[in-house]
Amino acid sequence: MQLIQSPDEILVKVKDLKKKGLSIGLVPTMGALHHGHKALADQSLEENDITITSIFVNPTQFNNAEDLARYPKTLEADKQKLEAWGVDILFAPGENEIYPRKPTIKLNFGKLEEVLEGKFRPGHFNGVGIIVMKLLNLVLPDRAYFGLKDFQQFLIVKELVSNFSVPTEIIGVPTQRHASGLAISSRNQNLSDKGLEIAANIYQGLNLARELILDKKGIKETIRLTGQFYDKVDGLEIEYFEIVHSDTLLSEQISEDSPLLLSVAGYVENIRLIDNLYLQPD
Ligand code: PAJ
Repeated sequence: MQLIQSPDEILVKVKDLKKKGLSIGLVPTMGALHHGHKALADQSLEENDITITSIFVNPTQFNNAEDLARYPKTLEADKQKLEAWGVDILFAPGENEIYPRKPTIKLNFGKLEEVLEGKFRPGHFNGVGIIVMKLLNLVLPDRAYFGLKDFQQFLIVKELVSNFSVPTEIIGVPTQRHASGLAISSRNQNLSDKGLEIAANIYQGLNLARELILDKKGIKETIRLTGQFYDKVDGLEIEYFEIVHSDTLLSEQISEDSPLLLSVAGYVENIRLIDNLYLQPD
């Protein structure tokens, strides 16, 4: 695997690969790699000649300095994983290379950024949009891979490439889970064994909600009963649980026949966790 740290160098490299007619898949990450990231890399390896993984802990998308400071940084272990997975190139730029100056542009994704995560993390999707746009411009991928665990991020990135006519196909990859159902996340590393057990209830709540909807209990009643389930879990502090239309992320004008997103965020041991379940009408 080749390690490239400079933006100029990656651009020269991808232009050369393209000249040779090779297709490029990009897997953007913030490191602390796990099986969720591996699923993205696996799909890219299958669908492209060359797979590039980027690792960059993007400061502009953190709205909490403590969260940024606590974010795990494990570059040596990550390199070994990527090598074992068969990734061709690791792009791991430094902060000054990516942000020689503070970005002056502000992206606004309209309603999409006002709901769910956007409501609780002001400025987060602006930061995500800016870094993803930079990575797409530096790597020029044919396809870029994003996890459906961060469903709103996936929609935001699709909106970004659509608005800027970026010729990259954005591909969503299903959420990878532990045996307990807990979505795999870099943040899980900060949880104790007890915390991991508590956190597994986040997914159990989503499954309960899915069952209730399939049982035709109605959206309102499903929200009430799922909320009751979450309230009873000691050590789990739910920030939001919402059922929204999976295209718009709005709760207006949905019915049990709409494609739905069941979306939840909460805290366990002061660690913020999110999960999503996509529900297609039968
Ligand atoms: P990060 O949290 O490192 O995640 C990188 C990618 O892996 C994202 O697309 C995320 O949705 C996906 N992912 C994480 N856990 C997953 C799981 N359990 N199953 C499937 N996919 C999973 O998301 C980011 O980084 C950043 O916001 C980034 C897009 C890199 C921009 O900085």
